[in-house]
Amino acid sequence: MKVLLLGSGGREHALAWKIAQSPKIEKLYIAPGNAGTNAVGENVEIKATDFPALKAFALEQKIDMIVVGPEDPLVQGIFDYFKGDASTQHIAIIGPSAKGAQLEGSKEFAKEFMLRHNIPTARYKSVTADTLEEGLAFLDTLTAPYVLKADGLCAGKGVLILPTLEEARKELKEMLSGMFGDASATVVIEEFLSGIECSVFVLSDGEHYKVLPVAKDYKRIGEGDKGLNTGGMGSVTPVPFANDEFMEKVRKRIIEPTINGLREEGILYKGFIFLGLINVQNEPMVIEYNVRMGDPETESVMLRIKSDIVELFEGVHKVDLGTKTMELDPRTAACVMLVSGGYPEAYQKGYPMSGFDSAEATDSILFHAGTAVKDGRIVTNGGRVIAVCSYGATKEEALEKSYKVADMLSFEGKYFRRDIGFDL
Ligand code: AMP
Ligand code: GLY
Repeated sequence: MKVLLLGSGGREHALAWKIAQSPKIEKLYIAPGNAGTNAVGENVEIKATDFPALKAFALEQKIDMIVVGPEDPLVQGIFDYFKGDASTQHIAIIGPSAKGAQLEGSKEFAKEFMLRHNIPTARYKSVTADTLEEGLAFLDTLTAPYVLKADGLCAGKGVLILPTLEEARKELKEMLSGMFGDASATVVIEEFLSGIECSVFVLSDGEHYKVLPVAKDYKRIGEGDKGLNTGGMGSVTPVPFANDEFMEKVRKRIIEPTINGLREEGILYKGFIFLGLINVQNEPMVIEYNVRMGDPETESVMLRIKSDIVELFEGVHKVDLGTKTMELDPRTAACVMLVSGGYPEAYQKGYPMSGFDSAEATDSILFHAGTAVKDGRIVTNGGRVIAVCSYGATKEEALEKSYKVADMLSFEGKYFRRDIGFDL
């Protein structure tokens, strides 16, 4: 089987690593990939959103399946693009239709969907510049802190949490007058939920589903989860509070109504559903939907899937996922992200990296997030550079191994958080 994976981050290296282990794989391409993905497959210099170039490549190389890593191609309609063309409709696309991708592409769509299907989520009101007064009145009914969300995709920056009503009123007006361009022409105002978050990943063929290992990610740059938001500084799986009782509620109240709701509404969804959940006194509530895997959760989640992931993907394509089994590794997996000094603000790229020989001699697994090869050497090529992932009998053991390897790797300005998993 010939598979084309789209994307270029740590998530995609982890997916590529897992896909490449399948005995079904004849050839794995990654577009555009990074220095790590090129070691488990072959990188192709095509952007994940360049549909015509992807189509030409897929036809030329007789690609059987396309696995979509990031949300952009999904929201831009890659599924519909390939399925709507007689020459490419036979290709399996692992990812939802454009309509399904609206669960991530529009916060307003996601909230209305949850309301229609009685899925537990924060109370909200969606407003535009024309309904600003209603928005201000809704803010008055809430208590601090206040949550404002730009409706559209904002590369993870579109959510503001404001400590006072004055700031919430001011920021609401600014968002509606173009703070995030078109993405904030509609703003969702939400009640603030207090609890601990976790990421639940579901793979669905539209009829059946499998729940992947539950993970927790650490988004802020600083220890104690303080400071600026990043694309993720580490992850751990499993999550102790996501026990059988909690997960039974997640299945009955969230996963099944989501999959049934999509089907009833005629929305084609064959791919990953990422539920950003919050545990409010043992009751799961949805903070957000994403239509892809999480990053850096994927880096630890892939370590715990023992089954052939390509076989599961075939189940998604053929709508017989219900007949497949997914075997999990009972161990803990933990990932620590090494980032460039300055990230998530301005940082330098192109620093040579060393220490790979000793790091690769350990049993930890390195997933490249932002690296490139320059004059035969691996150099930094992004804010998030490399994810160091390890197994352990406990969270502590897995993290200790990852930290040891994090110390072995060096590049100018290297930084990482030493408190991943602190709250579990
Ligand atoms: P999102 O982009 O929707 O994931 O939001 C970013 C982060 O904001 C989430 O991971 C939460 O930590 C926080 N957040 C979003 N919505 C709420 C809410 N209603 N209550 C509390 N925290 C929230
Ligand atoms: N780690 C959260 C995300 O991928 O959105």
